[in-house]
Amino acid sequence: MDREHGGGPRTLKAIPELTRPMTRVAIIGTGHVGLATAIAFAQWGHEVVGADVSEKIVGDLRAGKTTHYEPGLPDALGRSLATGRLSFTTDVEGAALPADVVFVCVGTPPKKDGSIDLSQVRKAAGTVGLVMRSAPGYKVVTVKSTVLPGTTGGVVQPALERASGKKGGTDFGLAVNPEFLREGSAVNDALHPDRIVIGAIDERSLRAVEAIYVSVQAPTMATNLRTAEMIKYATNAFLATKVSFANEFANICDTFGGINVDDVIEGIGLDPRINPKFMKAGLGFGGSCFPKDVQAIAAAAHSRRYPSRILTAVLSLNEVQPLRAVRLAETALVSLRGRRVAILGLSFKGGSDDIRESRAVPLARALLRKGAKVVGYDPVVRDEFQKAVPRVEVANDLSTALEAADLCIVHNDWPQWRELKGADFQGMRRKIVIDGRRILNRQALNGVRLIVLGG
Ligand code: UDX
Repeated sequence: MDREHGGGPRTLKAIPELTRPMTRVAIIGTGHVGLATAIAFAQWGHEVVGADVSEKIVGDLRAGKTTHYEPGLPDALGRSLATGRLSFTTDVEGAALPADVVFVCVGTPPKKDGSIDLSQVRKAAGTVGLVMRSAPGYKVVTVKSTVLPGTTGGVVQPALERASGKKGGTDFGLAVNPEFLREGSAVNDALHPDRIVIGAIDERSLRAVEAIYVSVQAPTMATNLRTAEMIKYATNAFLATKVSFANEFANICDTFGGINVDDVIEGIGLDPRINPKFMKAGLGFGGSCFPKDVQAIAAAAHSRRYPSRILTAVLSLNEVQPLRAVRLAETALVSLRGRRVAILGLSFKGGSDDIRESRAVPLARALLRKGAKVVGYDPVVRDEFQKAVPRVEVANDLSTALEAADLCIVHNDWPQWRELKGADFQGMRRKIVIDGRRILNRQALNGVRLIVLGG
């Protein structure tokens, strides 16, 4: 049974008799989340072993090579490896055996019906449970993977108990510690969290996880397992709602004309009840979290006979939002048939090489359906996009992408788009640029016909 831990946020203080200066941590899964977490924990003085089933990933990480694009990650990995407190292994059992706290950081990818695939979580729990069967001592298994409310208590705990023959809350601890890491700033977010949420089955589990964060200055909220799981979903659902709200108003501003949606957001943000951050209009949200998490919580609510109107609306606007750029393109060119259209930015957002749920994919497909020839360019993405939408030509550089194009659509927010000048678009056949991310410097674009989504 989850125990309620009362009270709201608090700031942690080291309690010498209950906390150890150093915790032995095992991290299962060294993807985007597990790796950044492992790096941060090691820098805070803990002894960390990152375990992953992939020999390639482990080999690379041991050599200080990162396996995905993330600014600052190679340096941070190097620094943590240099402390001697961070190591990597494919031996998940061996990593879990000496650990005081085991973090489950494996993926929970979406299934076709919108629910999440828990197979990696179940497998990790089974493995850790087997280790606990023979290992003496007390471990706290902490779920960092994003899982629906009730999963840690209802799926992970029974799997651990079955495999270990031990009892959660008595023989081992259980906690949920959601991550709030953004791709592109994952290292910084891991090292300087804005808050720490810990759901725990009991006080002992809570203290063990708190001890890991003891050197971090951040408000901490202690709660039960299910609430911590829900906080993660509610956070992403709220942020996705903010983005869809900004997008909705950008579209509405366009129907009126003569209104800049950023000014509208700035104006509403003067109301102390409204935080205007994270309300930059664009062609929709993508990435590995927002679409998947909003869909999963909406589908779970629906299966409990609560069809969420708000979340359904947030998702349905997001589906059609890339088509706003197609509409603007058609207005400018009348017909897209045979036209060459360049898309700048293929990853779901600037600073990332991730194309999961990137809105550039439906954008490119819609343009192709309209008969356009589509060429894409991104500072880091190439082959992955080509694989996702084979009929798109992916250019190696900006000028090749723009060469002889009839129109250009800026899809994501790479900072380099801000530096673009009129001269950069000289190679286009017709210099029509749609700024779908409201990022271009309008003053610098002499000789370009600029159409900005949201005015
Ligand atoms: C998100 C959450 O922010 C993070 O806390 C969670 O752990 C994982 O999911 P991430 O997917 O890396 O992080 O991207 P984020 O920066 O949140 O952006 C998500 C999407 O919203 C992107 O497509 C981005 O372009 C879009 N977005 C964001 C906007 O369109 N406007 C904004 O103002 C902010």
